[in-house]
Amino acid sequence: MANVTILEHPLIKHKISLLRDKNTGTRDFRILIEEIATLMGYEALRDLPTELVEVETPLMKAMVPMVSGKKLAIVPILRAGLGMVNGILALDPTAKVGHIGMYRDEVTHIPHEYYCKLPDSLEERTIVVLDPMLATGGSAVDAISLIKQRGGKQIKFMSIIAAPEGLKALTEAHPDVEVYCGNLDDRLNENCYILPGLGDAGDRIFGTK
Ligand code: PRP
Ligand code: URA
Repeated sequence: MANVTILEHPLIKHKISLLRDKNTGTRDFRILIEEIATLMGYEALRDLPTELVEVETPLMKAMVPMVSGKKLAIVPILRAGLGMVNGILALDPTAKVGHIGMYRDEVTHIPHEYYCKLPDSLEERTIVVLDPMLATGGSAVDAISLIKQRGGKQIKFMSIIAAPEGLKALTEAHPDVEVYCGNLDDRLNENCYILPGLGDAGDRIFGTK
């Protein structure tokens, strides 16, 4: 699928397997989500623009590459996307952070937006949208539409686990968006949960039911 990268690194796969285990508790679950986000972010950000700048080493002046342009924008989809934010900030502590609140109706599974606050000058930034779960794709599709309405152009989407149904919906709605997934799972169940999945990511990160 054009514009989709399924990450095949054994460390990412190993950590996702630990996440899936129902006996993994809240503390470890949070740590793993953050670590996976860092590993995925390293890959997703490999095309950040750089420019040569002069620095003086202890031995001489040299022209060396530094990341250029406006600061990166990270946009977690609430709640579960919040768990991935520090993992990306570990790579770029200067990034701006926006938030989009979405919840899925438990019966219809249709997403509803309840909050949106985004950094300025979106059109000049690389924007990384974070949500550990891409199930039907409704939340990601709507969140990205919102970002585009506010001027966002260069958008990447990162999910730790994706269902084929969500990946299809997202790439059809936003073919220009680069999508990075830690694993492509089998399918959705009748409640639109991903199988084998990891359950409800928000509840597992925040210890709610
Ligand atoms: C979960 C998850 C995604 C969404 C994915 O959020 O964090 O945002 O479902 O499903 P979709 O691809 O079918 O839209 P949820 O609505 O449960 O809200 P929460 O993060 O506040 O728990
Ligand atoms: N949201 C989750 O947290 N998990 C799923 O499997 C599907 C949507």
